[in-house]
Amino acid sequence: MTESPHRTGTSHDPILVTGAAGNLGRAVVDRLVARGARVRCLDRHPVDERPGVEAVVGDLTDPAVLRTALSGVDAVLLIWPLLDAAPARAVLPELARASPRVVYLSSSAIDDDRARQTDPIVQVHADLEALLMDAGLRPVVLRSDTMASNVRGWAAQLRAGDVVAGPDIARTAVVDERDVADAAVTALLAERFDRGPHVLTGPEVLSRADQVAQLGAALGRRLRFEPVRTDIARSQMLADGRPAALVEALIAASEHRLEATRTTGCVERLTGHPARTFAQWAVDHAAEFR
Ligand SMILES: NC(=O)c1ccc[n+]([C@@H]2O[C@H](COP(=O)([O-])OP(=O)(O)OC[C@H]3O[C@@H](n4cnc5c(N)ncnc54)[C@H](OP(=O)(O)O)[C@@H]3O)[C@@H](O)[C@H]2O)c1
Repeated sequence: MTESPHRTGTSHDPILVTGAAGNLGRAVVDRLVARGARVRCLDRHPVDERPGVEAVVGDLTDPAVLRTALSGVDAVLLIWPLLDAAPARAVLPELARASPRVVYLSSSAIDDDRARQTDPIVQVHADLEALLMDAGLRPVVLRSDTMASNVRGWAAQLRAGDVVAGPDIARTAVVDERDVADAAVTALLAERFDRGPHVLTGPEVLSRADQVAQLGAALGRRLRFEPVRTDIARSQMLADGRPAALVEALIAASEHRLEATRTTGCVERLTGHPARTFAQWAVDHAAEFR
């Protein structure tokens, strides 16, 4: 449940978005600008500066960079794009000193009943949630399911042929990153907001094969998902140029993620509109796969 009032952002201090050049960050920045908010972007890649948008280019794990980025901000969308929670220990004191409202983008796969998560990427998010609390911050926690934008990683395979080969991870309630962005913006622009955790999902639970088939329908092609053994998946991902640490985390995630996914009505509760389907995402982004 949200606690208003809502703001437009125009008469307020900037809102900092980390990971701002990424899939989700870009969607959040666009929406904040459209709502009249001042936005400060932090990423190691530059973002397009435009009226209302200023950029800090640097490493999120560098305390000096974060200090600069936090100067005078009112709220932060903390996207933590690292596969390691440890560097947060060095930078969270900066966040605690600046004391903005914090919205943390976490993972729906966290199992609150477990002391240790089975999946290393999920463990990073569980650690970050705990570290934020330990630092005295009281973040609004948005736990996102697998984002639809992840399938951009299939674009090269789909330009070369009709098969997507990869590890067959458990089914997930794939959520459109535009819905996650809408929810994040709602939380960022509210003076007060239920801290959650809010579990953001799409409207249906999908396998990789379901997603490939729906992408095929949008492209007017008969596409097929081909599950591959772990060792082959590892060499393919490395050959695609993905960093070794990411590859190992994805492999571990594919081996450990549990089949416990469910859908929630959280996107609609937070944004006022139903969660978009993956089929719609596929239609809207078909051009990227041609
Ligand atoms: N994708 C999902 O299914 C999912 C689900 C739940 C939660 N999440 C969370 O959402 C985050 C954002 O997802 P996304 O798809 O938008 O990711 P993304 O497209 O990879 O965007 C992350 C951005 O952060 C930048 N970055 C990485 N490390 C950095 C550092 N040390 N300092 C400054 N910038 C850095 C990245 O640059 P490079 O491109 O150079 O790395 C990239 O521009 C994930 O990292 C994860 O924490 C994701």
